[in-house]
Amino acid sequence: MNPEIKPAEGKLGILTVGLGAVSTTLIAGVLAIRNGTDLPIGSYSQLGTIRLGKRTEHRNPLVKDFVPLAKMNDIVFGAWDIFEDNAYESAITAGVLDEHKHLHALKTELEQIKPMKAVFDAAYVRKLNGQHIKKLKTKMEQAEALIEDIRTFKATNNCERTVMIWCASTEIYIEQSPVHQTLEKFEEGLRNNDPAIAPSMIYTYASLKSGVPFANGAPNLSCDIPAMEELALLMNVPIAGKDFKTGQTLMKTILAPGLKSRALGIRGWFSTNILGNRDGEVLDDPDSFKTKEVSKLSVLENILEPGLHPELYRDLYHKVRINYYPPHGDNKESWDNIDITGWLGYQMQIKINFLCRDSILAAPVVLDLALFLDLAQRAKMSGIQEWLSFYFKSPQTAKGLPPQHDIFKQLMKLENTLRHIQGEDLITHLGLDYYEEFIEA
Ligand SMILES: NC(=O)c1ccc[n+]([C@@H]2O[C@H](COP(=O)([O-])OP(=O)(O)OC[C@H]3O[C@@H](n4cnc5c(N)ncnc54)[C@H](O)[C@@H]3O)[C@@H](O)[C@H]2O)c1
Repeated sequence: MNPEIKPAEGKLGILTVGLGAVSTTLIAGVLAIRNGTDLPIGSYSQLGTIRLGKRTEHRNPLVKDFVPLAKMNDIVFGAWDIFEDNAYESAITAGVLDEHKHLHALKTELEQIKPMKAVFDAAYVRKLNGQHIKKLKTKMEQAEALIEDIRTFKATNNCERTVMIWCASTEIYIEQSPVHQTLEKFEEGLRNNDPAIAPSMIYTYASLKSGVPFANGAPNLSCDIPAMEELALLMNVPIAGKDFKTGQTLMKTILAPGLKSRALGIRGWFSTNILGNRDGEVLDDPDSFKTKEVSKLSVLENILEPGLHPELYRDLYHKVRINYYPPHGDNKESWDNIDITGWLGYQMQIKINFLCRDSILAAPVVLDLALFLDLAQRAKMSGIQEWLSFYFKSPQTAKGLPPQHDIFKQLMKLENTLRHIQGEDLITHLGLDYYEEFIEA
């Protein structure tokens, strides 16, 4: 282990904003895994291995044995929500995990996790109407109350460190405006209740001010504004965002790089979804959907680079739809129709029908992000953590730097960052040295 990285000693508090489907699936999952009844399937940090050195050295430790991550047994959960339901009640409402197979056995532990009062304004999430809310006059007062929540949570639960992850509903689409540009203007905006400051930004501010790493699982801006980047650097805190990459976009960023690698053309990509959970209901509001749409649409353009390959991708028609359909609950169903072009312009089609479980895919992503952000903090890495792009639909990057959407490049970046942190050689996959050694021998 690199001696410069502080060891992961003591308890790690994972604070989720929102105690809905994703958060409760994460919490119940970690408790079940801790009890030894289940495996952390889908978690790269827990089940992934990483190659070190040459292929011939056969050094492939588990990621969690290679870098000093917090142990599952050392995690404590806390949350905020606009509804008073505890984690057990909320998990039952979300309907993701089976009551008899999973939730019943964890009832006592889950019931103890009661949400703190939220900072919320229905103007930013129109479809929700909860009452478990902090009633304070200014946004600055709300931020201060959140800072106090974090302090109390840490003290009560005897936490050495904490991380905060936004797992709350998608807010309406907001573009960057002057109040987001500097920390000074942002703090003035908090005092003046500037309408361009959404609740997600108030949580981000409170997190960073408390020295707590922050990740944003939804497509709303939150930490993706210059003022919060400035604060993250000032407080030496890592940040990452935005919008967990699960389901359809995960498939897209697996498939599109493959088609492009063989120089196959793509004329059209039509993606539609039906889902019936609360997230689906929130996204039924056109302004919340717009935030999601922008996040989902950016992926293909970046991977396919039509400017470099006009003959293959110039005419690409990309459409994304999300439809709220209550009978399906959290079991989202997505369809993709992809019109591809091959040799001499002959047309082909690919159809994907993914019957997925949204929160089952998202929970391990939240776990990995929490553990890696905590690692980054102990390794003194602050500001935007682009190596965590692997987990996001719209990776946050430095101003002017195009994000990397190709999942294979994202994984290489993640793995090389872990090797770099631990002082191991980076792996380029060039591999010529194997043949040089062979010829010399
Ligand atoms: N499940 C996935 O695969 C996936 C993928 C990408 C992004 N996301 C995003 O993750 C978020 C959570 O998804 P979910 O399925 O758990 O949704 P959910 O509706 O089940 O849970 C969200 C919770 O956030 C609460 N909430 C809303 N505003 C709040 C605020 N200001 N403060 C505190 N709590 C607040 C809601 O009351 C709700 O309980 C959504 O924004 C969703 O778009 C999910």
